[in-house]
Formats: sequence, C-alpha cells, structure tokens
Amino acid sequence: MVKAVVLGAAGGIGQPLSLLLKSNLEVTELALYDIVNAPGVAVDLSHIATPAKVEGFLPPDNGLQKALAGAQVVVIPAGVPRKPGVSQCSISDDLFKINAGIVRDLATAIATTAPKAFVLVISNPVNSTVPIVAEVFKQHKVFDPRRLFGVTTLDVVRASTFVAEVLGDRSLSPSVAVPVVGGHSGVTIVPLLSQSSHPLPSNLDTSTIDSLVNRIQFGGDEVVKAKDGAGSATLSMAYAGAEFSTKIIRALKGERGIVVPSYVNLTQEGGEALKKDLGKELDYFSAPVELGPNGVEKINGLGAITPAERVLIDAALPELAASIEKGVSFIQTPK
Ligand code: NAI
Repeated sequence: MVKAVVLGAAGGIGQPLSLLLKSNLEVTELALYDIVNAPGVAVDLSHIATPAKVEGFLPPDNGLQKALAGAQVVVIPAGVPRKPGVSQCSISDDLFKINAGIVRDLATAIATTAPKAFVLVISNPVNSTVPIVAEVFKQHKVFDPRRLFGVTTLDVVRASTFVAEVLGDRSLSPSVAVPVVGGHSGVTIVPLLSQSSHPLPSNLDTSTIDSLVNRIQFGGDEVVKAKDGAGSATLSMAYAGAEFSTKIIRALKGERGIVVPSYVNLTQEGGEALKKDLGKELDYFSAPVELGPNGVEKINGLGAITPAERVLIDAALPELAASIEKGVSFIQTPK
C-alpha cells in the first residue's frame, strides 16, 4: 500500500504530475491538495482505470491534514513560477518570500501530520526550500535527513536529452545517464559530462562542451522564454518528478540498488566524505544517493572529475552556500 500526496496539485506541474502518479500501479491512494480546484482534478483522474483511489482537498475543514494523513510520499510543486526575464538564480525577493512561506506552511503540516513521510520538494528555489523544510522539521523535532529530497531530476533529464543531441542520436536519450551535482539553479547545476554513460567524442571542441554545460544549467530559461509569460517548465518537470517519485516508491517497497541524484542534507552517511571532496563545509548538496526503504542510505562522492568540472563546482559553492543560508534564516530569524 502506497499513499502519495501532491501539494499544489492543480497547478501547471501538479496536474500532469498527478496524472503520472495515477498511472503508477504501485500507488494505491493519491491525495491531491491545492488552494483551488483540487477536487475537480481528483474526480477527473479518478476515472482512469488504475488502482489508486484519488481524493481532492481544499483548505477548509482541515483539508491539508486530511490529505496528508497516512502519507508515505509527499511531493510539493506548490508555489509561484518565475516570469520571463527572471533567471532562476536572480529569483526576486518577492517570489522567494511567497514560495518560502508556502513551503514553510506545508512543511509544518507535514511535520505534525505525516512526519515519517518522504518529502520531495519541487518548489523553487530548491536550493533554499529544502533547508526550509529541514528547519521546520527540526523545530518540530522530527527531522530525518534520509527522508528529505530536493528534486533535481529535471536537470538530469535535460542532460540526457542534450547529450544525446550532441551525440547526434536522439534515440539514445533514455539510456544516457549523466550525474548532475551541486544545486538546482544556474551555475550551481554541474553536469559531470566526463562520467556520462555515453562518452562525448574526445575531439569535441571546448566551445561545444561549454555551450552544452550552459544549456543544461540554463535549460529552464529556454522554456520560460518560449512560454512568454505563461509560466515555466511544467510538463518536463512533471515527467521528471514522476521519474523521481517512482524510484522513491520502488525503494520504499524494498528494492535495492537504486541510485538517483538529489539535493540532500549532508549530515548523513557519505556526507562528510563528500564535504572533503568539495573542500567546503556545506550542509546541502546534490549528488547521486543510494536509496533504501528508509530513504537515503548513502550519499556518493563526486568520483573522478576533470579540472574543468572542478572549476564549475568551485563556481557553484558560493551561491549554494548563500541560498542555503537564506533558507535557514527564513525560518530561524524571520524578518
Ligand atoms: P503554477 O502556478 O502553475 O502552480 C502552482 C500551484 O500551487 C497552483 O495551483 C497554486 O494554486 C498552488 N498553491 C499556491 N499556494 C499554495 C498553498 N499554500 N498550498 C497548496 N497549493 C498552493 O506553478 P508551476 O508551474 O506548477 O510551478 C510550481 C513550482 O515549481 C514553482 O515554484 C516553480 O518555480 C517550481 N519549479 C520547479 C522545477 C524543478 O526542477 N524543481 C522546475 C519547474 C518549476
């Protein structure tokens, strides 16, 4: 029995993500929560002939608590997406405060209603919203770092797609695996192309590699620009969110050997070794993690990286540290 909950289920990401979770045969119960329209989305999805029982909830009558009761997996795509011209790294203070406040309130409800659930954070800025969830859980004395995940899978999916394009064969994209580490915005996104399952040609010129890295780091901007005011990545994000959720559900059900990149708290198995690799005291970082029935079993190190990848990682660290601090202080010293 697996109960999954989507918070922000009526949104651009929330709806297709809920559809994909409804299509997951392992999910037996799917609770959809939003401040608008969740019951309608739920009834629509409930006609699909898969096992999950679907219910929708709105804020009145403790809808959020009802949605969360008994949850094992909670996915959070609630929030406001960025507008054209706003890069992910220069996300405005207003947008930060709105999303940070939404995530704080949802985390509070999870901490009090479903403290053992696996929490998968999609709401941006992920580099800060994951620390926000952790701080709320710490305040409620229920923080277990193994169960908190920042969803960076879209960066991984984009890396597979764009690398396959550079290799000149799109049909390879489902099997191309590139570890993407660091964080989840702009320069904090570091694809380790040298560890691609499908190596790039050794004679590839530097400018092609640089533009590939740049496209993976700023892929979200392509979508925001093309949607021209109608939001950011929703469908590809829903696909990525469902991919990640599916792996979490498989691990929860006892499957071993699943390794996925995710933005996680480093005060757990493998975290100290990773910090040594990084050469910096940092509390959160995205790296491939080994999953087990209780969540993260071990955070893997960076492996053998090239000097150029080391430069990218060094460039990511200051922004990452500042974003983490911003999230932590949003809870510890609210203004
Ligand atoms: P959207 O505006 O289409 O949907 C957001 C939904 O959240 C809306 O239905 C809204 O009613 C709901 N919502 C707002 N406040 C809420 C609350 N307190 N409780 C429950 N639901 C609430 O936005 P979209 O495009 O779905 O994006 C959602 C978030 O995901 C944004 O923060 C965006 O930046 C982020 N995102 C993350 C990505 C990632 O790779 N992690 C990629 C793309 C977007």
